[in-house]
Amino acid sequence: MIDHGYGFRERCLFEIIYLEMMFNIAIDSQQSWRFAHVESVQELILESHFTPSSHWIVTSNHGYISYAQEELRRSFGQLKSRMLVPGEMALMELPASSTEAIERWQQEPPIFGRHIQPVHLAVKREGLANGPAEELEAMCALWLERLSASSGLQAGSGTRVAVHVRSGGARTEEEKAIREAFRSVIERSGGETVLAEPEVIVTVVIGEAAIYAGMMTHAEAGSDWPGGAMRFQREEGQISRAKFKLLEAERTFGLDYSAYRHALDVGAAPGGWTSLLLERGVHVTAIDPANMHPSLIGHPQLTYVKRNAADVPVEPNEFDLLVCDMSWSPKATAEMVIRLMDGVIAGGTILVTVKLMHKKPLQTIRDVTAMYAEHAQIIRAKQLFHNRDEITLYMMKY
Ligand SMILES: C[S@@+](CC[C@H](N)C(=O)[O-])C[C@H]1O[C@@H](n2cnc3c(N)ncnc32)[C@H](O)[C@@H]1O
Repeated sequence: MIDHGYGFRERCLFEIIYLEMMFNIAIDSQQSWRFAHVESVQELILESHFTPSSHWIVTSNHGYISYAQEELRRSFGQLKSRMLVPGEMALMELPASSTEAIERWQQEPPIFGRHIQPVHLAVKREGLANGPAEELEAMCALWLERLSASSGLQAGSGTRVAVHVRSGGARTEEEKAIREAFRSVIERSGGETVLAEPEVIVTVVIGEAAIYAGMMTHAEAGSDWPGGAMRFQREEGQISRAKFKLLEAERTFGLDYSAYRHALDVGAAPGGWTSLLLERGVHVTAIDPANMHPSLIGHPQLTYVKRNAADVPVEPNEFDLLVCDMSWSPKATAEMVIRLMDGVIAGGTILVTVKLMHKKPLQTIRDVTAMYAEHAQIIRAKQLFHNRDEITLYMMKY
């Protein structure tokens, strides 16, 4: 990961006085808050190297931020980047306006940039959450005014707002204090703070020296989850953690597994994916030389073929869904899946994990997608939160 030494002009701290804004807040809320110590926001002016320019916090799975950066560099031609959390979070400046940037990645969604959030405001972190709660609330009210002005979005009067506060490591008291302060300000101004299906998301990242805040719509964020980290509760008797990958694919790609009739699960053992498809009412043919979990054996909707997938023949039009989570070389897996796709109807769905065991993930993805592209439309390639050293390909058979 190249760090360009992109700095903030920390020497050029601008004290921006918001007396007028504070006056309005005091009148509107009719609260007797103690504003005495909250007279200014110490805003950090982010350096701009491009015109137009926009700043973003980009988050990837651990170890993949350099690939997220490379993807954005290829898409935008150039960028500036500064690491915030090693391997997984960076502050990036792109040579495009916010609107252009969002349009670009809505058309070409990034594979490794798991979550991209705008930076509309950067402030000095020092001492912010140490004072009384009402002072932090007053500060957050000022920030919110700034975020609304920069983003053109509102968080008050009936708007459903999610507040996502993150820092690099484990959850901290500071995160909690800032989240609570924002919630309180939003509720006071008539907004409704929610966890799911918000209209607007206020995003805050606590960096080492600075706090970065932004505001975006739910559609722009593409996820209800802070940093795109979609978390599921582990169920009693769950067969494998791998099940979370298929669950996340279902939500991320907007699939409805219950709409499928017959799925082929290649490399199915011990059966996390198979169990989810069975729960959705799909008939599953599971292929794996390894053992399926005993709880699945004898399931009336399951056909278990205990063999190497290379030796299993398929009949045309047997399946409307093919899923493959086989741990093997990406190209050899692609060859095998392409042969098995003969058993899938035209328009059928293919979901495949591509293992990134090599040092050149972008090249591997290019090679493998080129192989699949002759037989299927690649709808989306994405490293899901639950993908470790792999990505998920979502395709439709021609
Ligand atoms: C990561 S596990 C799959 C986990 C599964 N998706 C789940 O939810 O439990 C990979 C599986 O691929 C299987 N596998 C590897 N090579 C295979 C092949 N040639 N044919 C069939 N299965 C294979 C392995 O036996 C292993 O069980």
